[in-house]
Amino acid sequence: MKIGLTYDLKEDYLELGYSKEDVAEFDTEETISGIENSLKELNFQVDRIGRFHELNKRIVSGEKWDMVFNICEGIHGISREAQVPALLEAYNIPYVFSDPLVLTLTLHKGMAKRVVRDAGIPTAEFYVVEELEEIESIKFGFPMFAKPVAEGTGKGVSELSKIENRYQLTSTCRLLLEKYKQPVLVEKYLPGREFTVGIVGTGKNSKVVGMMEVNFKGDTNIYSFESKDNYEELVEYSSVEKKMYSQCAEVALAAWKSLGCRDGGRIDIRFDEENVANFIEVNPLAGLNHIHSDLPILCRLNGIPYRELIKMIVNSAIERHGTKKFENLDLV
Ligand SMILES: Nc1ncnc2c1ncn2[C@@H]1O[C@H](COP(=O)(O)OP(=O)(O)O)[C@@H](O)[C@H]1O
Ligand SMILES: [Mg+2]
Repeated sequence: MKIGLTYDLKEDYLELGYSKEDVAEFDTEETISGIENSLKELNFQVDRIGRFHELNKRIVSGEKWDMVFNICEGIHGISREAQVPALLEAYNIPYVFSDPLVLTLTLHKGMAKRVVRDAGIPTAEFYVVEELEEIESIKFGFPMFAKPVAEGTGKGVSELSKIENRYQLTSTCRLLLEKYKQPVLVEKYLPGREFTVGIVGTGKNSKVVGMMEVNFKGDTNIYSFESKDNYEELVEYSSVEKKMYSQCAEVALAAWKSLGCRDGGRIDIRFDEENVANFIEVNPLAGLNHIHSDLPILCRLNGIPYRELIKMIVNSAIERHGTKKFENLDLV
């Protein structure tokens, strides 16, 4: 079975003139070869494709793959993560992970929270601020938390995100609106413990493959750009006691299913002042660096090796498309 690999390689974009922050979410050679090697060990024939533009050229020239393992984050627009899957759908090429609807919906953290809230899942009260004047309309009280509505990897999340008063609300929203050129998601601040939950599968076949608590070592209790970048110094991951595990698993699985996420990813959870587990956000294209990314780390903590994680993800995609289509498969 021939599997294509699409990805946004950091180095490629730096060469094209993008800044380090622009490409913060993109992948390194280490990540790509980690995935490639695991897929090869699982008996797939792997073809490295690269970014959207490479895929586009190769599709137009008539190439085909049995399946594409796509981790492209894209660079332009709210549909940036959906662009590769949409192209693959147009040419009826099966691919791993969520569809364009889900990848666009979940990139907009406010829209995703509306769906999750509608499904009756706890998520902090929020307001999507498009223009600075709109902060007048926020009905809930301090403390609040502000972040760009459609970024990842802690981009735009810092100590300034935690807001105690009017003055900070104005200054942080102004700064984020100007810097990230997109709406700001202002939420009720969640003061409790933080967890990240790994999920594999689709719909009723979804299951939690592990989770970990994010413990903060320094003065901060925010999983910011800085703490993600220096996680070895600033945070400590720990396994989760039974009671917490079941509460987080329930919220995470319900959110995963309500949003229609597929194959594998991660959900961030934090507890509110009443000790209720709240949905923060979902990562339907979670980082897959075999050493440093949260999903592989929490699997490892739960005794699941990296190759097994990749196998479960691809198997979920194969099952969705019907194993008949891939009859000759000789998976390890
Ligand atoms: N409402 C909130 N209250 C308290 N902390 C929050 C809230 N929303 C986000 N955070 C903190 O900010 C971090 C990053 O937010 P998140 O939406 O997960 O962004 P990213 O996509 O960058 O991971 C979270 O892991 C958490 O520590
Ligand atoms: Mg997060």
